[in-house]
Amino acid sequence: MNRLDLLTIARQYAAHPDTWSRRLHFDPAQRWYSRIASAADHEVWLLTWLPGQHTDLHDHGGSAGAFTVVSGELTEERLTRARHSPPTLRPRLLPTGRGHRFGPQYIHRVTNRGRLPAISVHVYGPALARMTRYELTDEGLRTAAIELAGSQW
Ligand SMILES: [Fe+2]
Repeated sequence: MNRLDLLTIARQYAAHPDTWSRRLHFDPAQRWYSRIASAADHEVWLLTWLPGQHTDLHDHGGSAGAFTVVSGELTEERLTRARHSPPTLRPRLLPTGRGHRFGPQYIHRVTNRGRLPAISVHVYGPALARMTRYELTDEGLRTAAIELAGSQW
């Protein structure tokens, strides 16, 4: 069986910057991202984060994924939903070299809360086609925006 392991792919790209098809860039206005590889069943993105830069709370439109921190550190807050209780965000720190896989229903927010710039490699399978951004309010999870490949990125 030859199952696609998205985290293995992310780690391979992270270990070999010479395979990145784009030069690394830091954008003072917002986190920077660029697709550095794509295949029939997955795509690879390079992201850079200056201190304080972040994503909103978002899903991945039904794609599974994985990411790994190439340098610096990132804080990830993942949405947890227990029965009969409101959704909450559970934080964890991902230092250099750490990463993890996530499934197609995963919702999270990622922030560089460190003092140094951070770099990460993200892999999605299948390729990202749609992402929904959310806000967590007292009433629960609220859809803020739906973004589509080819339109918003
Ligand atoms: Fe994400």
